[in-house]
Amino acid sequence: MPHPSTAQDSHAAPLRLADASDADAAAEEAEAGQARFDELIAEDSRIEPRDWMPADYRKSLARQISQHAHSEIIGMQPEGNWITRAPSLKRKAILMAKVQDEAGHGLYLYSAAETLGTARETFYDQLYTGRAKYSSIFNYPARTWADIGAIGWLVDGAAITNQVPLCRASYGPYGRAMVRVCKEESFHQRQGWEILHTLSHGTDEQHQMAQDAVDRFYGPALQMFGPPDTDSPNSQQSMAWNIKRFTNDELRQRFVDMIVPQAEALGLTLPDPDLAWNEERGHYDFGELDWDEFFAVLKGQGPLSSQRLEHYRRARDEGAWVREAAAAYARRQAAAEPVGA
Ligand SMILES: [Fe+2]
Ligand SMILES: [Fe+2]
Repeated sequence: MPHPSTAQDSHAAPLRLADASDADAAAEEAEAGQARFDELIAEDSRIEPRDWMPADYRKSLARQISQHAHSEIIGMQPEGNWITRAPSLKRKAILMAKVQDEAGHGLYLYSAAETLGTARETFYDQLYTGRAKYSSIFNYPARTWADIGAIGWLVDGAAITNQVPLCRASYGPYGRAMVRVCKEESFHQRQGWEILHTLSHGTDEQHQMAQDAVDRFYGPALQMFGPPDTDSPNSQQSMAWNIKRFTNDELRQRFVDMIVPQAEALGLTLPDPDLAWNEERGHYDFGELDWDEFFAVLKGQGPLSSQRLEHYRRARDEGAWVREAAAAYARRQAAAEPVGA
C-alpha cells in the first residue's frame, strides 16, 4: 500500500486547500481508491472508466491505446493505395472491406482512449503534429500486389498474436474493443494468406513476386512485437497492471511458431537461414533482427515516414469542411427537436 501522499488521482479536481480537512479527505479517498485498484488487479478483474486508477496507469493506457488507434489509421495508407489497382473486382471489394475495417478499428480505439479523460481531438492533434508514435511497419511501402498478401498474412497475423491477449487487458473499454478487432483481424490474415497462396501457385513470375514480398515483410513483421525484453523497460509495469500478458519475446516466438508451417503450406521460404526447429525448447529458433533499422524507423527515418504523415495531414485538412458541416447539422437537429420527441 503506497503512502497516501504518493497516491495520485488525475480525475480529482485541482485541490484547493481551503483547510486541512479537505486535504485529509482527498488523501483518504486516494488511499481507498488505490486499495480497491490493487484488489481488482490482484483478482484479475476489470478497471472501468469511473473507477479510481493511478495516474501512471491512466497515462500509460492513454498512450498505448491512442498509439494503437493511430496505427490502424495510418495502416490504411499502404493498402488503400492498392484499391484501384487490385487485380479483379472481387479483390477490390475484399480490400476495400479490409481498409474500412481498419478505419473502424481506429474509431473503436479512439473511443476507448477518450474514456480515460482526454478528448479524441487531442489524440488527433498528437498524430497531426508528429508527436505521436504508431507502428513502424506502416512506414514501409507496398510495392506490388503480392505485398498486399504479405501485409495481410504477416502484418495482420502479428497484430492478432499481439492483440488476442489484449482482449483480457485490465482496462475494460480496451479489452472489449479488442474482442471485435481480433475477429476482423483473423479475416484479414486469411485474405492475405489466400492472395499469397494464389500467387505462389501461379506462374514462376507470380511465385517470385510472392517470395519477394515475404522477403521484404518478414523482418519488419517480427519487429512489430517491439524491442527484445532486455531493451523494453515499460513491459514489466504493463504486465504488473494486467495490460500486457506476455513479453515481446514470448509473443514474437509464438508468431514464428505459427507462421513456419503456414509458409510451408504456401510453398514460400522465410528469409532467415537460422530458422530451425529446436527439439529441446519445443520452439523454432530464429536469427537476430536488424534492431538498428527498427530504431531508425521508429525515429521517423522509415522509407515513407514523412509521406505517411503528410498524407494524413492533407486528408485531415481537406476533410475539415465535412466535419464542420456534420457538426452544424447535428447542432441544428438538436435545436429543432425537443427532447423526448
Ligand atoms: Fe486493424
Ligand atoms: Fe487488420
